[in-house]
Amino acid sequence: MRTPFVAGNWKMFSNSDSAQKLAAAIVAGVGKEDRVRVAVCPPFPYLALVGAILNGSRVGLGGQNHYPEKEGAFTGEVSPSMLLDVGCQYVIVGHSERRHKLGESDAFINRKVKAALAAGLRPILCVGETLEEREANQTAAVLQRQLTQGLADVPSSADLHEQLVIAYEPVWAIGTGCNATPAQAQEANAFLRSRLAEQLGRATADQMIIQYGGSTKPDNAASLLNQPDVDGALVGGASLNAVQFLTIVQAAIRR
Ligand code: PGA
Repeated sequence: MRTPFVAGNWKMFSNSDSAQKLAAAIVAGVGKEDRVRVAVCPPFPYLALVGAILNGSRVGLGGQNHYPEKEGAFTGEVSPSMLLDVGCQYVIVGHSERRHKLGESDAFINRKVKAALAAGLRPILCVGETLEEREANQTAAVLQRQLTQGLADVPSSADLHEQLVIAYEPVWAIGTGCNATPAQAQEANAFLRSRLAEQLGRATADQMIIQYGGSTKPDNAASLLNQPDVDGALVGGASLNAVQFLTIVQAAIRR
């Protein structure tokens, strides 16, 4: 039994006031609920503020990015240990906005996955095809490449499913209001699980959380989350509204 995991990616939104209010509302809404895992990923400047509000709650904290070195002369960058130091358990890696707007390669993303794991920070590795790739029937090839290269040299271990999360995020669905159909999400997530089994072994693949992300909203969450291989959601826009985010969390509980 995989416990569903719903994470909010706040992207470059919020300010110190709205971030704290949003975090407090999510903490109150999640309460002692343990049938779902929940986390929020605020912008770097608000991590510590939000972390203080999450302290002692069941809501986890994640960064949206990191640089794959322990420390050094990397102006503007943040290391995995810094994220851990301010209370993060997770970090988003390979988000399509970083792949496509900031030019991150699979090789660089792989370094980030390995650096996060080595530091004890759980990467949420995002993979997903563009519309052009889907229309050219390249979806499976793209997902396979991003997964294989993103996880290159990551050794399988009995608890890897607790350290690593995969998120299927079709680029054409992110922030567009055009979500994948439940059948498309299921097909992609089942494919990813089959590739994970090849790469890391069946036992690890069967226990790995594979989220869906891309225009997840209160009105489509239940049908997406009811798919057998959709183990939760990485939520962008709707995670900035506590009522909407908590409705998606509820849908994950009822799946
Ligand atoms: P969205 O974003 O829910 O606004 O489409 C998802 C994401 O980027 O993780």
